[in-house]
Amino acid sequence: TEPLRVAIAGLGTVGAGVIRLLEANGSLITRRAGRSIEVVAVSARDRAKDRGIDISGLDWVDDPIELARHPRADVVVELVGGSDGPALALARAALGAGKSFVTANKAMIAHHGLELARAAEAHDAAMKFEAAVAGGVPVIKGLREGAAANEIARVYGILNGTCNYILSKMESEGSDFADVLAEAQALGYAEADPGFDIDGVDAAHKLSILASLAFGTSPSFGDVAIGGVRHVVAADIAEAAALGYRIRLIGIAEAGESGLFQRVHPYLIPMRHPLAHVQGSLNAVVAEGNYVGRLFFQGAGAGDGPTASAVVADLIDIARGEFGPPYAMPAESLAAQARADSGER
Ligand code: HSE
Repeated sequence: TEPLRVAIAGLGTVGAGVIRLLEANGSLITRRAGRSIEVVAVSARDRAKDRGIDISGLDWVDDPIELARHPRADVVVELVGGSDGPALALARAALGAGKSFVTANKAMIAHHGLELARAAEAHDAAMKFEAAVAGGVPVIKGLREGAAANEIARVYGILNGTCNYILSKMESEGSDFADVLAEAQALGYAEADPGFDIDGVDAAHKLSILASLAFGTSPSFGDVAIGGVRHVVAADIAEAAALGYRIRLIGIAEAGESGLFQRVHPYLIPMRHPLAHVQGSLNAVVAEGNYVGRLFFQGAGAGDGPTASAVVADLIDIARGEFGPPYAMPAESLAAQARADSGER
């Protein structure tokens, strides 16, 4: 059998992590995918940068858009980031050329997910974005499969590893906000612009994706009420603790009488709630289904290994020909989603 040939745009924390993982677990991945998964081409800002990986045998292109027409690539993996710009141009070009597409880009999926899913469907390609929400935690797959038979009342959780890392460290070590943020950046958790993390924007991107899956609508990032953790100080954390609470940045989406409510804010979480015990860069997502009850997903939400793990899991699905639904829950078509948006449901 032919290998699945992959082109990767972006060799930052996650891109380099994908190459390392494919290398380290190569034979196991080949066995499970039914064929080998081979990186054939890459693109990044700086060719000479030392990433601790060997890219000498790979085709190098300066402009990522060229990966969409790379003659040998079956799949394009986009790890450049940014809701528009080069990432979106690459997504459109790759899907338009009938190549399958894998991304960790929550900002782009939150803004353009449905459009891209339609392009994937029109060209019989796969589009997968498991790594975009909660890093290594298979929450997209978990929701689609675990809650496939359920009416979902509410989906909520801790969706930003950087903020959770900061809040937990401030709480356990009394550290200063700015110092812990620098640590989170050094560990590869934070966004290129860490304002996206601490002001709640990154969590809002992820929430709008989860909400669209749970409620069968298109992602509506603009409707998320957003607050961040920039103003949380040590005294807030100490006071919360004295009252039996912890502060966590929570994203929550729920179906109300007049539609869907989506918000991201720091919350006081009582110690008896499992979300109060999610520490460090972990993420956790709770989904409440009318038959399954409360599903709780938890794991590493940021960092190279976990995020690469989700990207490669998507590649294994594609290698096996398991394209899955391009955007919605299994039985819901994109057309139904569009009707729900326009209020016809
Ligand atoms: N900056 C993100 C976070 C990375 O801290 O959660 C994972 O999406």
